[in-house]
Amino acid sequence: MTERTLVLIKPDAVRRGLIGEILSRYERKGLTAVSAELRTATAEVLDQHYAEHVEKGFYPELREFMMTGPLLALVLEGDSAIPVVRALNGATDGRKAEPGTIRGDWSLSNQANLVHGSDSAESAVREIAIWFG
Ligand code: PPS
Repeated sequence: MTERTLVLIKPDAVRRGLIGEILSRYERKGLTAVSAELRTATAEVLDQHYAEHVEKGFYPELREFMMTGPLLALVLEGDSAIPVVRALNGATDGRKAEPGTIRGDWSLSNQANLVHGSDSAESAVREIAIWFG
């Protein structure tokens, strides 16, 4: 089933020059970028995007981190794009993510973990509307 999902290539990945490597993994898997924008997130957008996490203890630090530089917001399309992107990303904590995944290969953190991918069809619709209107 063809789906669309929201991916954020986070500020740590942009700083480290990993946009090309990460995008290439999604594209080589067969997914297609249908929207893309490099931008620095605002607190307002992040509070909407992370609505389910705003009350958590780690959230203020996560929000600051997400505003430390530009990120690449992407909409990717393809068969089962939502679970496929999450599998390519790997577990949230880069220290625990499997080698061969984006986080497993290049992250040692659960905050600076390079990428975000929508976790369900409902989240994808909501997040695409937040970032792309
Ligand atoms: S996931 O991948 O969305 O299922 O991960 P989840 O565990 O629900 O975490 C949601 C986002 O919160 C970030 N996170 C943290 N940031 C800082 N410190 C701690 N301890 C922490 N735990 C989780 C994590 O990077 C997830 O960000 P996104 O952008 O959703 O990947």
